Amino acid sequence: SAGTPYWRPTVHFTPERNWMNDPNGMVHFQGEYHLFFQHNPHGDQWGNMSWGHAVSHDLVHWTELPVALSPDELGAIFSGSAVVDHDNTSGLFDAEPGIVAIYTNAGQTQQQSIAYSTDRGRTWTKYAGNPVIENPGVADFRDPKVFWHDETERWIMSLAEGDRISFYASPDLLNWERLSEFGSDQGAHGGVWECPDLFRLPVEGQPGRSKWVLIVSINPGGPAGGSGMQYFVGEFDGTRFRNDGSPGEVRWVDQGADFYAAVTWAGIPESDGRRLWLGWMSNWTYASEIPTSPWRGSMSVPRELSLIETGAGLRVAQRPVAELERVRRRPRRWSGAVSDGGAAPEFRGSELDMTTEFRLTGASATSFGLEVFTDGEQVTRIGYDVTARQVFVERTESGDTTVSDAFPARHAAEHVPDDGVVRLRILMDRCCVEVFGDRGQVVLTDLVFPAPKGNRVRPFADGGRVHLDSWEIYELNAH
Ligand code: FRU
Repeated sequence: SAGTPYWRPTVHFTPERNWMNDPNGMVHFQGEYHLFFQHNPHGDQWGNMSWGHAVSHDLVHWTELPVALSPDELGAIFSGSAVVDHDNTSGLFDAEPGIVAIYTNAGQTQQQSIAYSTDRGRTWTKYAGNPVIENPGVADFRDPKVFWHDETERWIMSLAEGDRISFYASPDLLNWERLSEFGSDQGAHGGVWECPDLFRLPVEGQPGRSKWVLIVSINPGGPAGGSGMQYFVGEFDGTRFRNDGSPGEVRWVDQGADFYAAVTWAGIPESDGRRLWLGWMSNWTYASEIPTSPWRGSMSVPRELSLIETGAGLRVAQRPVAELERVRRRPRRWSGAVSDGGAAPEFRGSELDMTTEFRLTGASATSFGLEVFTDGEQVTRIGYDVTARQVFVERTESGDTTVSDAFPARHAAEHVPDDGVVRLRILMDRCCVEVFGDRGQVVLTDLVFPAPKGNRVRPFADGGRVHLDSWEIYELNAH
């Protein structure tokens, strides 16, 4: 369609051509952030699953490289992870440390295999002893995510097994021992569990305190329908993960429709110390119908993770990485009263990073926020519903909504700010909005496909007034 090239985002990674789903093998090595991804090099539908490859020095500008891993006699190359084998525990390297990729070979059955690279991820050798973990007789057995566990001095793998996550250990990445499993009676089970990740996260503002976080993608059964992501906060003793929450509790990572299969980067230098990830910005409900060409699939922006103490307990918070602020232009600013039917300022832009602070205390509006990607007819509404106490994204009239019956919808996340101010950071980039509420504990990511003339942003208030204390609008210029 005519809108297609226009929808190519500028600060979000998309492959030059063809299909993309999950991020894979994310590792930082010798100054480069690697992003591998589920890719069909030969078409714009899921198939021929391979690992595509891109690198970045700053998490904003990406260079796509040739396909890293292609299907072999053990099957397709499904999702997985990568680590830097600093101490050559695998014996696969000589003088210099290299990268080891751990992935699922999906053929007759799903099994775990490894490959290694001695040239900064440019070329890969598959290990002659693959698979390193054979299928034990279960259909779903995939998406290995590996990290080095300091306390027990061994590698730990999290693996998705249908309705649970299993944990394995290895001294050398080659020989694996099954340790334990978690989750068949915990959290949300509206669909199959996929793409786990397990890591320690410091509690913000409480030096010395940290918890273990277990991430699980689930499809279907997500909060906005279809694919979604949940997390558990607890302890990992080197063998077992224990959930601090009650078994029936469900914590969602993102309550929009389009954030899936996110896993974190390995190899971030200690001097940096951040826990970073990004996710696939799509949903299995309609991923194959996304109206872009010649590519299909985009990633979210990289986000920094933290654990924050809230009135309701510890929550995972996400914020766009600080590197994005380097491609902001000088801001336009506005503050003032916004009322139903009243005049409102309007700005142009389709690649924007905005911050808003709406004063909830004293507001008479039933809902308020920003209209984005609008020309007066098509509109994406992002805001706060005072009555329902929800941050929401509404894309019912966002442009091309014919993607699927499930596409034109309103997605919402409960939130009550503790200081009477609704803070929203809103990133928009041609075909998507990412909304970070408050300290980043309320997140909604949604795809939208506006016509090019839908390029204005303006505040709105329904059924009354609200004071917009602060509105900053930065154009993003990543070129
Ligand atoms: C998640 C997923 C993974 C699998 C991959 C296949 O989106 O289903 O479980 O490894 O995609 O492309």
